Amino acid sequence: MKQLTKRQFKRYCDIVYNESGIKLNEDKWQLLNARIGKRIRKLGVQADKYLSIIEKDHDELNLFLDAISTNHTYFFRESKSFEFLDTSCRNIWCAASSSGEEPYSLATYCLELGFEPSILATDISDSCLDKGRRAIYPKKCLSNIPKHMIRRYFQKGTGKWEDHVRVKQNIRRIVKFEKFNLLKDSPPSKIFDIIFCRNVMIYFDIPTKEAVIRKLFKVLKQDGYFIIGGAESLSGLNHSLKYIEPSIYRKI
Ligand SMILES: C[S@@+](CC[C@H](N)C(=O)[O-])C[C@H]1O[C@@H](n2cnc3c(N)ncnc32)[C@H](O)[C@@H]1O
Repeated sequence: MKQLTKRQFKRYCDIVYNESGIKLNEDKWQLLNARIGKRIRKLGVQADKYLSIIEKDHDELNLFLDAISTNHTYFFRESKSFEFLDTSCRNIWCAASSSGEEPYSLATYCLELGFEPSILATDISDSCLDKGRRAIYPKKCLSNIPKHMIRRYFQKGTGKWEDHVRVKQNIRRIVKFEKFNLLKDSPPSKIFDIIFCRNVMIYFDIPTKEAVIRKLFKVLKQDGYFIIGGAESLSGLNHSLKYIEPSIYRKI
């Protein structure tokens, strides 16, 4: 595929921003080029034609957003913040759950603490939600998990799945995956004891971050914790959460 022109790059960035809140800068030119290149080759069209397709076709728009979003995650990522979970955290929202490693880590952590939570795991990406629901991961993804927990919560694959594990059914059933666009969707009508919204707002600009926090704040219980990623901060933003320590905020 030819390099995107400046005009095409800007139009793609506008679509990404309007649909997901993700702000792409010029340093993402190559990345965008590479990622949409795959879709464009598959459909056998040019960059301008592909633009007009995603403007009209919602399914292709979803595939495009899937292709450009960064879904990097892993089991027990930044698990120090899990210390803010306690037995009062029955209803957990893991917003931007990617392919499921984070909500399954939260589930197993709570079970080790002796209680079974209900976890809502949401993301904008259909392919990530599918992976989460399937709950099959390469064995090498388990390196952060203590051996006894692997035995307790994962089943080994056999035959052609020998190098994989699957999260056991009793863990899968407490994590419910649903599509949720932090930018566009209205929050569920439920109140959550704790909300994890980690390593996603880093891709948003200030007004989008503030709008997302306002939205999640509404469904966080009084005194509930709001957890963000280790490289993120809410400082300088207009919000009503109380800072507790890096990555940890509370609705007081
Ligand atoms: C880098 S991953 C973070 C995953 C996980 N929270 C973690 O900390 O490991 C960012 C996730 O945010 C999702 N995402 C991006 N924009 C979103 C939006 N507007 N609404 C919901 N999810 C979004 C992406 O699909 C991706 O799965």
